[in-house]
Amino acid sequence: MAQAIHIGVIGAGTVGGGVVSILQGNCGLIEQRLGVPMQLRRVADSNPATLAALGLPEGVATHDGFAVVNDPDVHVVVELVGGDGIARELTLAAFAAGKHVVTANKALVATHGEELFSAANKAGVQYMFEAAVGGGIPILRAMRESFTGDRIESMLGIINGTANYILTRMTDNGEAFGPVLADAQALGYAEADPTYDIDGIDTAHKLALLVGMAFGGQVGLDDIHTEGIRGIEPVDLDYAKAFGCKVKLLAIAKAHQDGSIEARVHPTMVDQSRLIAQVDGVFNAVAVTGDRVGETLFYGQGAGAMATGSAVVGDLVAVARDIRTGSRDRVPPMAFQADQRSPLTIRPMAQIESLYYLRLTVVDEPGVLADISGLFGQHQISIARVIQEGQSSESVALVIMTHRAREQNLRQALAEIEALNCVTAPTTVIRVESDDA
Ligand SMILES: NC(=O)c1ccc[n+]([C@@H]2O[C@H](COP(=O)([O-])OP(=O)(O)OC[C@H]3O[C@@H](n4cnc5c(N)ncnc54)[C@H](OP(=O)(O)O)[C@@H]3O)[C@@H](O)[C@H]2O)c1
Repeated sequence: MAQAIHIGVIGAGTVGGGVVSILQGNCGLIEQRLGVPMQLRRVADSNPATLAALGLPEGVATHDGFAVVNDPDVHVVVELVGGDGIARELTLAAFAAGKHVVTANKALVATHGEELFSAANKAGVQYMFEAAVGGGIPILRAMRESFTGDRIESMLGIINGTANYILTRMTDNGEAFGPVLADAQALGYAEADPTYDIDGIDTAHKLALLVGMAFGGQVGLDDIHTEGIRGIEPVDLDYAKAFGCKVKLLAIAKAHQDGSIEARVHPTMVDQSRLIAQVDGVFNAVAVTGDRVGETLFYGQGAGAMATGSAVVGDLVAVARDIRTGSRDRVPPMAFQADQRSPLTIRPMAQIESLYYLRLTVVDEPGVLADISGLFGQHQISIARVIQEGQSSESVALVIMTHRAREQNLRQALAEIEALNCVTAPTTVIRVESDDA
């Protein structure tokens, strides 16, 4: 029998447990596809109870990740510890020991990717991370291998299931952000510290990887304008419905003729007839538009033991096939050859153009709308629609949808508008993604 491929897993929590289960449960199918067995040789976890629950054969479990990395019998290491501390050390140690590494660790790849790609390249091994973006959705493989004949024009992604779950519940039930977040935590859809998910940081990590692969360069996380969903109120979701839209936390990337790239993460109104607007709950989707292929949409479960584990095992089989065929460097980790990648020019946020939803809070007096629209006009912002609430002795909402406008002009206009006596609270601004923006 041909030689089996031996796998060592470090971190047997949610995703690691999924990988172990898939390798055990679908071993026959995997062998049919790979041509040789794929065997789980070592599994490390710092938590003895986690290891015990897996019911592994004698000699497989260990508490020490470095025992996996240094086991001469392991061909491919799976890093599912998370974070950018010990995970980075284990990954570098695995490369130094001549092991290929597969991971789902988006934070590590987004922050230390260049160092790790270069270390893997020097060691002559592969570093694979399909599960880092979109969980079970094979979007990175498509970016690396399927769109190689296309110039990528744009990408729109819902790539954080926690934020999408919260926004979906707020939209469907009119619930406020705080209680929905608490419920999501109780249901296991949000972590105890949800900062990365709801403040858009996790989405920005993933967008950095997508942008790097799509446009052939590096983008720093600081270059990605990132806003989360904490400030979204049910009233804005109701107005979105009135405009035929939904609010989604979108990762947006667009290529411009001058070579600059837009890369931003923020709550966005999208026409509810668009497919991406129909991606609800914990599901993820990425729409990629290429100059030849046109628009494509990838949809599926963006997290969870089995979906994410499935993407990890897909990478394991890809690496194992290359081991079997003696193939090296067949597919560059970031889609472009390393010597063809250079820092990307990210268009400053002030220069982007969009439609805007604005909810102003104003006193209910004659002439207010005229004052406000006059200031918008002075900054080349034209108004497409206005919703003004009925009479009140207190402040009322004045909701405006603009035509396409430049962010810088909008910010200047709003600074002047908010200085008016008739404006009594900060304005809520949500960008609107439209075919003409
Ligand atoms: N969960 C998902 O749906 C999902 C989706 C996409 C990507 N990811 C990524 O996948 C990675 C793993 O996530 P997860 O949700 O599976 O995390 P998790 O459930 O917390 O599992 C991590 C496991 O690693 C163990 N561990 C920590 N330090 C270790 C060390 N030095 N040596 C050995 N074991 C160690 C932890 O044990 P303790 O419990 O003792 O700390 C825990 O059992 C992360 O990078 C995450 O961002 C997760």
